[in-house]
Amino acid sequence: MATTKTKSVWFCSHCGNEYSKWLGRCPACGEWNTLVEKEVVTGPAGKAARMSVPGASHKPLPLKEVSTTQEDRVSLGSAEVDRLLGGGIVKGSLVLMGGEPGIGKSTLSLQLPLHRPELKTLYVTGEESVKQVKMRADRLGGACDNCLIFSETDMGAILSEAEEVAPDLMIVDSVQTMYCQSVESTAGSVSQIKEVAAQLLRFAKESGIPVILIGHITKEGTIAGPKILEHIVDVVLQFEGENRGAYRVLRSIKNRFGSTSELAVFEMTGSGLREVANPSEMLIPMHEAGLSGTAISAMLDGNRPFLFEVQALVSSAVYGTAQRSAMGFDVRRLNMLLAVLERRAGFKLGQKDVFLNMAGGLRITDPACDLAVISAVLSSNFDYPIPSDVCFAGEVGLSGEIRPVSQADRRAVEAARLGFKRIFISSYSRLDRKSPGIEVVKVADIPALVRALFK
Ligand code: TYD
Ligand code: MG
Repeated sequence: MATTKTKSVWFCSHCGNEYSKWLGRCPACGEWNTLVEKEVVTGPAGKAARMSVPGASHKPLPLKEVSTTQEDRVSLGSAEVDRLLGGGIVKGSLVLMGGEPGIGKSTLSLQLPLHRPELKTLYVTGEESVKQVKMRADRLGGACDNCLIFSETDMGAILSEAEEVAPDLMIVDSVQTMYCQSVESTAGSVSQIKEVAAQLLRFAKESGIPVILIGHITKEGTIAGPKILEHIVDVVLQFEGENRGAYRVLRSIKNRFGSTSELAVFEMTGSGLREVANPSEMLIPMHEAGLSGTAISAMLDGNRPFLFEVQALVSSAVYGTAQRSAMGFDVRRLNMLLAVLERRAGFKLGQKDVFLNMAGGLRITDPACDLAVISAVLSSNFDYPIPSDVCFAGEVGLSGEIRPVSQADRRAVEAARLGFKRIFISSYSRLDRKSPGIEVVKVADIPALVRALFK
């Protein structure tokens, strides 16, 4: 029979990292004299450590005998959030909603139950007082008969209250403020965060109640950040907004019950977050046609094509070294594209300042945006506006070739739907279907693009 043993480990009381021996200084956070000894039980997993997943079987089963009934999902009353989650939140799942402070996590998580009053919700707040939550709820304007607010940070009290209330949905704001008495370090440390998430996961799996856990991500790094939780939770939704603009993007970066790289756009208004169901209509130009330095990119995020504006400004460098800055776009990729323009197409941009901005505060990672970026840069450099009914979808390679991108035809169809007349794509693209109402211009390299665009 397997026996259990106890052994000593040392925890840093500042950051929560664990070591097998005592050290004067914690290598992870650099604090002195913070390691404390703790006895832990090792050996076969006890009852508490075993997680009971609903429908779990403790014997291996042939795959074909596993029944595949649909997961039980609960709609959260927001079409965009439901879509991100893959059709509502799955019962018994733990969803982590991460983002920088002030981006709108608390707003969205309170808005969900307010706009779906038939759901009995337990909203646990460790950051704001009950009064503050009420004031926010009034601002968001919604009925709150079924939404219980609980201001508490002790996980023991929270879980016993949750068992009693048995809500349809539980929201915990935020993981950094909660603590478990079984862990010695302070709230917000790595070991506390892990334990809080593990307890919530166990609670969700055992009770079948879906839990939304909010976590702050700081710009500085990952210490005590929700990054360490990504492998524990079922779904990770991340709030992004490049600047303090009105638009916020909620992205699904992990989803055990649906596809990832889906995205939803919200606009922060005076009365909460408004869903932007068709981002293209919001993200494309809000100025008159005829300005140089702007190009529209047809991009795809997850499964949805949408169009948005890339803005570039090229001007002579005032100081010795030219500046390069990019908002919402990887500045190293911008540097690479500028080097390609210089070496493969002969445009001397070395002495020019180049500023790039993705409209709407979006952060773009789709390589199909390259073609719009170089078009915007060239347009600004020549001070030659690109017609407003033209858009782009293509990746630029190191030898100056325009490379094909995925699902070019869907991008073309979306562009046609929005009234664009011409789309520039790679010569090597294969289009599976015709896109009526839009001329597809195929270009093989940068000189071909310049000839076709600035003729
Ligand atoms: P919040 O949701 O508290 O952010 P987080 O929980 O991610 O830290 O607040 C986001 C910001 O939005 C805050 O600066 C105030 C603003 N806001 C509005 O503009 N309109 C509103 O209706 C609400 C509730 C907040
Ligand atoms: Mg908050």
